Amino acid sequence: MILCANFKANKTREETRAYMAVVESFVSANDITDTIIVFPPFTALDHDPRNVLIGVQNGYPVINGAFTGEIALEQLEEFGVKTILIGHSERRHVLGETQEEIAAKFRFFAQQNFVIVYCVGEPLEIRKEGNESLMAYIEKQFEGIDLSYSDLILAYEPVWAIGTGLTPSNRDIEQLHGVLRTKTHAPLLYGGSVKIENAGEIMALENVDGILVGSASLSANDFCDMIAQAAELNTEKGE
Ligand code: 13P
Repeated sequence: MILCANFKANKTREETRAYMAVVESFVSANDITDTIIVFPPFTALDHDPRNVLIGVQNGYPVINGAFTGEIALEQLEEFGVKTILIGHSERRHVLGETQEEIAAKFRFFAQQNFVIVYCVGEPLEIRKEGNESLMAYIEKQFEGIDLSYSDLILAYEPVWAIGTGLTPSNRDIEQLHGVLRTKTHAPLLYGGSVKIENAGEIMALENVDGILVGSASLSANDFCDMIAQAAELNTEKGE
């Protein structure tokens, strides 16, 4: 299983440090073999992770240069970061990133051998139009994306499920992930209102290889609880 905590614009450096200490010691005390990735804000990348990976929520696709307000490869390398989130719905819909820009980021960071957690997902009005519209929408989010990239992790996060407390039914998640499975061998994560109450059942679904958690990951104890649920499932799912 792969469990990701996306802090978004939450937590200070100090808070991140305390959080990492809790999660790192939980992971080592319980011999957790799952992949755990934390995406803190840029200001809190200065960690020496032991058994939890640190990733970034964004990055500008250049080595360095005149791009005011952006953070490029050189700055990420200084922190040893090799994992990046690309295509998150907040970057698409709130910050206005186009598929072209997203694909340029993907190409650049793939060339740099980053682990890429690539996010796709549909707004509610598309979901309401039915399966055909839904898949056509997601297909567009694959434009310019190499789904055979070896360090790809694909995350399905319906826009309407993010931060709302709403989730698709387990059947809907399985169905969508079943279609994604035909397109890539990459591990498939589900994200959108995952919390301790539903993490276990979502991770148990077919073709769900992990979770991408926002608000509920902000509590280190809750995130550890989800890690424990994943560890329990590993035996059942034969991982
Ligand atoms: P929530 O878990 O807060 O719904 O956010 C999901 C998400 O956007 C993770 O990237």
